Amino acid sequence: MERENNTVMTGLLGYPVSHSLSPLMHNYAFRHLGLAYHYAAFAVPPHLLPSAVEGIRALGFRGCNLTIPHKVAVIPLLDELDEEARLIGAVNTIVNEKGALIGYNTDGKGYLRSLTEETGILLSGGKAVILGAGGAARAIAVTLARSGLKEIVIANRTRDKAEELASTVFAAALKPAVPAVRVVSLEQAAEKVADAGLLVNTTSIGMTPHTEDCPLPTEVLHAELVVSDLVYAPLETALLRAAKKAGARTHPGVGMLVHQGALAFQYWTGREAPLKLMYETVWNELKSK
Ligand code: ATR
Repeated sequence: MERENNTVMTGLLGYPVSHSLSPLMHNYAFRHLGLAYHYAAFAVPPHLLPSAVEGIRALGFRGCNLTIPHKVAVIPLLDELDEEARLIGAVNTIVNEKGALIGYNTDGKGYLRSLTEETGILLSGGKAVILGAGGAARAIAVTLARSGLKEIVIANRTRDKAEELASTVFAAALKPAVPAVRVVSLEQAAEKVADAGLLVNTTSIGMTPHTEDCPLPTEVLHAELVVSDLVYAPLETALLRAAKKAGARTHPGVGMLVHQGALAFQYWTGREAPLKLMYETVWNELKSK
């Protein structure tokens, strides 16, 4: 089907999507570069996902992002899967190449870029403790497993999910630099932090309105640690506050949000994303809440 005007459409398929900051972030970025693109959020219930994805094709969208609960369910609906998305087992970005829908995952790379740019951390030979084993943890753990770490500890409330993620991570690692991958309970994670260089919270513990909650006892935090918290509301979680107090470097969740979006932006437009503007837009929006 031919498009009747010049606006190139992109967007987000999720359920729900009302709290998403992506439309604001992308539309600012499109406008800033003078691109005739638009990004809209669509609440798509799971049973309508196949029709919505067909709609991307039929309506000539350049692509879209996917969020909960569609990141895994979308895979069989696509024509091609990028290597990273295949390893992670989830897609957060579709690019429509003349009717062929290609699935990418920019969450892992977005996280890694943001982490290294904002903290200067050297991952090679180090140990990371990841709290949580959901969608975000999958992308991060698989990406970190391919970044030269020697050990990855996965701690989750539901042990089975952590075990499953550990096998995925092990299989995705780059040979011969395969890290040791261990699964522990959230309680046991505290003792694993002592000789770790990176702690990542991917659980929702500490998110508004439970802003005083912390995923592990703060006494275990130390000055050799970089602490990432994917929670971005509040902008500074109790975990990040405690990490600063302990002398650790901190990496707030806004960074991953912006960088995963910036990579999708580049896939759709072929242009470098205005990262600083996107960061400020999201930061100001969250600060005003
Ligand atoms: P996301 O895509 O943001 O990772 P998700 O896939 O729903 O979201 O994963 C949420 C993660 O946070 C899971 O690891 C979940 O633990 P379970 O696997 O046991 O459900 C974790 N989580 C959420 N709330 C939690 C809580 N109150 N205490 C401990 N872990 C929690």
